[in-house]
Amino acid sequence: MKKIGICADHGGFELKEKMKSFLIENHFQPIDFGAEQLDKDDDYPDFVIPLAKAVAADEVFRGIAICGSGVGACIAANKVRGVRAALIHDFFSAHQGVEDDDMNLICLGGRVTGYASAEEFVLAFLNAEFIGAERHIRRLREIEKLEGNWSNSV
Ligand code: RB5
Repeated sequence: MKKIGICADHGGFELKEKMKSFLIENHFQPIDFGAEQLDKDDDYPDFVIPLAKAVAADEVFRGIAICGSGVGACIAANKVRGVRAALIHDFFSAHQGVEDDDMNLICLGGRVTGYASAEEFVLAFLNAEFIGAERHIRRLREIEKLEGNWSNSV
């Protein structure tokens, strides 16, 4: 079973709990990076950064990060070297982001995206594969150059 890292702050906590059951039903193994309980004062970087590091280190197959809008989670995740995260609101981008851009972490807005749509996006994301055409690799190499000496330790 593929391990899927998942996390959420208070804005995404409810969706995270539902997505964990959904992952199990679909034969994936969720690895929960928190929050462990609903706490209206928690901060998404505390969960997103450890998840993003695990994705970058290949400790999990891919990641799912949820906050209220998905914006903060996406900003935080993309600061980790080797992570290619995107905030997803549509089915096409959920799979095309993997196929063309090798997206390895999906961000969702727990206060924005309904459960049924979130399930469709996550399944499309997890089942998609990077096509790896020369043009795709060329573009990713350009982005990797920016990461140069970027370290994931603080
Ligand atoms: C928390 O209230 C909210 O700001 C956060 O979940 C997220 O939406 C940030 O982008």
